[in-house]
Amino acid sequence: SKEKGWIGSFIYKYQGFWTSPKLIQGVIACQQQFQAQDTNIIFVTTPKSGTTWLKSLLFTLVNRLKHSIVEQNHPLLVKNPHVLVPFLEHTLYVDSRVPDFSSFTSPRLLATHVPFASLPKSVQNSETKLVYLCRNPRDTFISMRHFSNNLRLDHKDTNSIEEMFDFFCKGLSIYGPFWDHVLDYWKQSIENPNRVLFLMYEEMKEKPKVQLNRLTEFLECQFSIEEENCEVVDEILKMCSFENLSNLEVNTNEKLSTREGNKMFFRKGEIGDWKNYFTVEMSEKLNHITEQKFDGSRLKFLYT
Ligand code: A3P
Repeated sequence: SKEKGWIGSFIYKYQGFWTSPKLIQGVIACQQQFQAQDTNIIFVTTPKSGTTWLKSLLFTLVNRLKHSIVEQNHPLLVKNPHVLVPFLEHTLYVDSRVPDFSSFTSPRLLATHVPFASLPKSVQNSETKLVYLCRNPRDTFISMRHFSNNLRLDHKDTNSIEEMFDFFCKGLSIYGPFWDHVLDYWKQSIENPNRVLFLMYEEMKEKPKVQLNRLTEFLECQFSIEEENCEVVDEILKMCSFENLSNLEVNTNEKLSTREGNKMFFRKGEIGDWKNYFTVEMSEKLNHITEQKFDGSRLKFLYT
């Protein structure tokens, strides 16, 4: 089925989730063509949950022996995180083809926004590890709002915040319904804790070291005593901080595609910007939906 979506065009329901026609092609291509390997690490988010940040952290952590943090030409300093950890599906690698990942050395780090049930069969049937990151729906929504406004700047027909909010609540967002996406991965992380790690943006912001240690334990690449002594964790966090990444030349003046400048991926990087936009009714409405959707699970969003 198709519905009017918030970016001024129609969005379509595909396998139970909403997405744009362009993205559907990308999702189908990755479902048909992507061959997972057991050592792959696939990082999953809903859009605007902190994908760029965690891509940076994952890349830096996993490759820290290959690319020392102090390297002047560390890849993260010269390439956008979306180039280092590419999406399986995306808008669109030319010709609807999954990019050739064969030059990636093991462990391959890849990313996706695809809901669990629609992941390529080869991912579901392999030992691939999945790292999921979610963010509270209020901040995710506000971040989406800004992102789509930027995308639509040249068209000037952006929806009002009320209209967009209405779409979001009805599940009509890219890879929505938002709650179903989060809940499906949450359930997987409970059932298969060795396969799926569930992280929250807010916890990453508040206690990054604790979360990084969870990540290294899950990926079996824990810090050595020597690394701990050299405060490598702090160095990684500093390197991947909003402040550092958003000021790099590659992320301020360069573009991934012909249209979008990389600076679109960096706006405020904070918890709680929703307070500058939400009415009490909006918060209550999202709370109500969350209660209904998450009923029976112990999953709770953090808004601090
Ligand atoms: P805001 O719009 O709230 O600032 P995604 O990468 O999934 O598209 O998510 C983008 C959001 O992550 C944006 O949120 C962006 O500013 C934030 N972000 C990007 N880099 C970050 C970093 N290094 N640390 C924290 N947040 C970051």
